[in-house]
Amino acid sequence: MIVRTETIDQRIETYINDYQPDKIVVVVSETSEKLCLPKLQIYKKIDNIIYHLPDGDEAKKITYCEDFWESLLRENVTRKSLIIAVGGGAVLDFAGFCASVYMRGLPCIYVPTTLLSMVDGSEGGKTGINLYGTKNVIGTFTDPVAIMRNVDFLSTLNECELLSGWAEIIKHALLTGGNLMELVKKGMPLSSDIEAWMNIIRENVIFKKGIVAEDFKEKGQRKLLNLGHTLGHGIEAIHFEDPKINHGISIACGLYWESLLGYEMGFTNKETFDLVSSLVFPLFPKIGWNEMEVEPMTNLLMHDKKNHNGKIQLSLLKSVGEASYDIEISETEINEYLTKYAMAVHESND
Ligand code: GLY
Repeated sequence: MIVRTETIDQRIETYINDYQPDKIVVVVSETSEKLCLPKLQIYKKIDNIIYHLPDGDEAKKITYCEDFWESLLRENVTRKSLIIAVGGGAVLDFAGFCASVYMRGLPCIYVPTTLLSMVDGSEGGKTGINLYGTKNVIGTFTDPVAIMRNVDFLSTLNECELLSGWAEIIKHALLTGGNLMELVKKGMPLSSDIEAWMNIIRENVIFKKGIVAEDFKEKGQRKLLNLGHTLGHGIEAIHFEDPKINHGISIACGLYWESLLGYEMGFTNKETFDLVSSLVFPLFPKIGWNEMEVEPMTNLLMHDKKNHNGKIQLSLLKSVGEASYDIEISETEINEYLTKYAMAVHESND
């Protein structure tokens, strides 16, 4: 399930030999092309088409989709062709979405190159692009034909990128407890500790696969994976102009703020709230909102696509390994909570 570079080359070669695609299109970002593509021998041997995307969420735009589909048509890409997406979550989301609707579906292989996409984005079949600033509002539930995780790519990531994946790993550990929580309590391994990373990535993938197998279309228990993401997305959105506050930091802080909210509601127990705090800080900075941001953040949360009947639907932890979804919070309740903690955050950031 989690392999080294040589094995990825063999697996891609086996897939190509079995499937005999008439064309291969490799989708990369600026960074994945520079740092990861050269590590894969297979791309040097075959005559494939390379499609270049910018880094990050910039790629997840309808204009790039149109341009990509046009180039597939120009190159006579058919249903018998193969897309190979090499990159982080944005590349996989983009390629997965475009492949899922071009000629009603092309096979797509995912080669995730970031920790975040290895433990989260690549698994579960969600594809998506953004529209008018709303994240993943256009997308499909479509599984790739294969996911090839390569632990050697971790050496291409900086601390901040590793932390971004670590936030989702903490979330999975809080939801499942057990062996994964024991591994997480030991702290983030060095990027050179391949063995430790392989164990951690494997445990994460097993956990997420289990949840998704029961609820692919997110009608029930898959909503648990939204833990930390309601307030986390709010934090990410209000700080979108600050490059230091990335997805991982926002989600880690979202886990903290949601567990505090759960604790105040009498839902999350104290021991669990303390554990969340100790796993998130001091690895991540404490980011929240100030008084000026309470109203914009309330508005953002009230427009979350997960909401129902004009109320926010949260997933909250009761204790480690025990959580609930669809917990309703009204506009007044969230506004009061954001107001109460606005000053404290402001002070701690000074
Ligand atoms: N990242 C949450 C999910 O795949 O459902």
